[in-house]
Amino acid sequence: MAYYSTVLLLLYLSWVLSFSLVCSQNDLPVKAASIGNWLLIEGWMKPSLFDGIPNKDLLDGTQVQFMSTQQKKYLSAENGGGKNLIINGSSASSSETFRLWRINETFFNLRVSNKQFVGLENEGQGSKLVAVSTSPKSSEIFQIIRKEDDKNRVHLQASNGQFLQVKSDADITADGNGSSWDDDDPSVFTMIIGSGLQGEYQLTNGYGPDKAPQIMKDHWNTYITEEDFNFMSQNGINAVRIPIGWWIMYDPNPPKPFVGGSLEALDNAFKWSEKYKLKVIVDLHGLRVSQNGFAHSASRDGFQEWGSSDIQETVDIIDFLAKRYANQPSLLAIELMNEPRSPGINLVDLKKFYKDGYDAVRKYTKDAYVIFSNRLGGDLKELISFSNSFSLVVIDIHMYNLFWMGFDNMTVQQNIDYIYNNRGSDIKSVSDQGPLIFIGEWTSEWDVKNASKEDYQKFAKAELEVYGRASFGWAYWAYKCDEIHWSLKWMIENRFIML
Ligand SMILES: *[C@@H]1O[C@H](CO)[C@@H](O)[C@H](O)[C@H]1NC(C)=O
Ligand SMILES: *[C@@H]1O[C@H](CO)[C@@H](O)[C@H](O)[C@H]1NC(C)=O
Ligand SMILES: *[C@@H]1O[C@H](CO)[C@@H](O)[C@H](O)[C@H]1NC(C)=O
Ligand SMILES: *[C@@H]1O[C@H](CO)[C@@H](O)[C@H](O)[C@H]1NC(C)=O
Ligand SMILES: *[C@@H]1O[C@H](CO)[C@@H](O)[C@H](O)[C@H]1NC(C)=O
Repeated sequence: MAYYSTVLLLLYLSWVLSFSLVCSQNDLPVKAASIGNWLLIEGWMKPSLFDGIPNKDLLDGTQVQFMSTQQKKYLSAENGGGKNLIINGSSASSSETFRLWRINETFFNLRVSNKQFVGLENEGQGSKLVAVSTSPKSSEIFQIIRKEDDKNRVHLQASNGQFLQVKSDADITADGNGSSWDDDDPSVFTMIIGSGLQGEYQLTNGYGPDKAPQIMKDHWNTYITEEDFNFMSQNGINAVRIPIGWWIMYDPNPPKPFVGGSLEALDNAFKWSEKYKLKVIVDLHGLRVSQNGFAHSASRDGFQEWGSSDIQETVDIIDFLAKRYANQPSLLAIELMNEPRSPGINLVDLKKFYKDGYDAVRKYTKDAYVIFSNRLGGDLKELISFSNSFSLVVIDIHMYNLFWMGFDNMTVQQNIDYIYNNRGSDIKSVSDQGPLIFIGEWTSEWDVKNASKEDYQKFAKAELEVYGRASFGWAYWAYKCDEIHWSLKWMIENRFIML
């Protein structure tokens, strides 16, 4: 009897063991949807979220230029910053461009291209304007007063109550009276609004502390619901990739302008994923100090500044996430940092962070995958040998047939060939080198104009086939988006994509 029980036990154990191995293999490759614009705002995916913001064309990070109507020349930071403001030239480039830091709907700091803030040289009457301080003080706040019937004609009121005026090319002072809107008034400027950002910083700071909490709460509760997790599980999706921002670790009271509540939403995502048998990839997308300058890094003003002194605080966020979710059965992976951008992010800092972030995850779980994003613009193999000293590590590479001039005029067939040839050989070149490979972002949108449904279907089929060769799998960008071809939900419902 003892013999038979032992045999039975062994049989049972080997069955359990093989079953669990099969189970974990079944998680891969993932066919995932990125739930973008849910816990981390990207305005282009749902622009109407910004509609209720007063002066919504003047958000944090908006790049503006000021042309003196009298001189017909642009206000400029001499040498790009560190010196006086001057008037230099009748055309504008980086030295003539100011990035807004919004205090409220009409008050702003102005950040110049060398990153200093515009302010007064002294508090006295007739003070010169300078761009020297590296963190903004109260004397570095300006009110942008727009003309009622011509929003791009402005006065700039300094903290001393006086108005900026141009006395001569090298003499910009805060002692104008702002009494007229005439062209020949030295305190009148034409404001040219350039590119801006529409990320979570802009949204929450734009609405301000009174309105932002409700706006965000409504968004979290309506943009994605349990029904979406059901939909995914019914339609061939087996995992979700969820971009989040750094402030989630301070929930429910994150530093301003961010508001609390995204942590509860992420908890719900885990609950629903378990119910509908989806795996979860938690993806740290937004850092306090931007790793790429994009709105989706939650950057305030578009400067990419992440570096060695920001490693520890970024590891702390990973530690927080790993600790909280390590025992969730749906947790598949933690992605340490989305899209670090080369050359601004150097490999030495990045590898140090990846090592420390990996160790933080391993403090809580041996089973979760740890995802290292390749640098945007970096060599596809630059992390391969480094990654081989860890276990269950994945390299994330994003593949869009967009954002490069070479795609501008490609035909349908050229786009498809590019997937099979270029993307196919890229994936082959990094496969079987050690780490698993994840095509963590792609979409079936492209630069082809007015393509037919059949064109999109052929393109999506090629992408699914080639990206399906990646050992860890892929994630479509995004699950849901106002731009229909970026919405996997729409693409599935309308049979553009068949999984
Ligand atoms: C004035 O503008 C020109 C052209 O943009 C630039 O080369 C030059 O350095 C600027 N001068 C100063 C003093 O900033
Ligand atoms: C906006 O900020 C300025 C500068 O801090 C302050 O003086 C003003 O009262 C604020 N306005 C509103 C409407 O909060
Ligand atoms: C305001 O300043 C302008 C330019 O210096 C001057 O011509 C005008 O007389 C001043 N107006 C008042 C009301 O002081
Ligand atoms: C694409 O075509 C447009 C219009 O024909 C042309 O202006 C542009 O230079 C082309 N771009 C590239 C990258 O070839
Ligand atoms: C695409 O279609 C629109 C509307 O039918 C048309 O105005 C436009 O010229 C087309 N563009 C191209 C590149 O064919």
